[in-house]
Amino acid sequence: MTVVASNYARKENDLYQTEPWATEALLRHFPVGVGSFIWEPAAGNHMIADVLRKHGASVFTSDIATYDRQNAQIDFLLSGELETGMFNALITNPPYGKGNRQAVRFAELALERCDGWVALLLTAKFDFGKTRQHLFRDNPRYAAKIALVDRIQWFPGDTSGTEDHAWYVWGPVPGNCCGSARMIYEGREVPA
Ligand SMILES: C[S@@+](CC[C@H](N)C(=O)[O-])C[C@H]1O[C@@H](n2cnc3c(N)ncnc32)[C@H](O)[C@@H]1O
Repeated sequence: MTVVASNYARKENDLYQTEPWATEALLRHFPVGVGSFIWEPAAGNHMIADVLRKHGASVFTSDIATYDRQNAQIDFLLSGELETGMFNALITNPPYGKGNRQAVRFAELALERCDGWVALLLTAKFDFGKTRQHLFRDNPRYAAKIALVDRIQWFPGDTSGTEDHAWYVWGPVPGNCCGSARMIYEGREVPA
């Protein structure tokens, strides 16, 4: 991930934890509930998974490492043979890596491995650039971008995050959204 506050060391494995309001903002537009079976493949300490569960979804959590919470240990970028057909959504805040390269690969594999809804929390300009248009402009599943108008606090005591983020949402296969993704704005507070 590219979020490195100057007075904090870079986190091992990019363990930056998503404040619950950011996931609530996603669910206001793409609700989940009982009957949703969701894969969180970079689950960390389940900050996203817990919000999904609070809304009634069943969540399978995996991560390359195990922190304070138990999950399956799977390197999402390496594992080839995964039985994934049972999930109707994949939602995560993945590691970004240098130049966002891990995030791009995460997005490509997420779309390969989940035929249902895919939602990834990424930097606000992640959809720019010619080399990513297979994920966005040219992708019939690309359905929405939810720009977060408030900044996520990744570190305890951090009140001045320097980067903006957005949720990118892809719909189920085969999709029919080429070039017509919705643009949504959301924040910490529920709009009046
Ligand atoms: C930005 S944190 C997000 C954690 C959690 N999803 C959240 O939003 O609070 C990224 C997570 O990706 C995990 N991770 C890094 N490389 C990974 C890989 N190759 N496969 C699976 N998980 C990975 C890290 O261990 C870390 O928990």
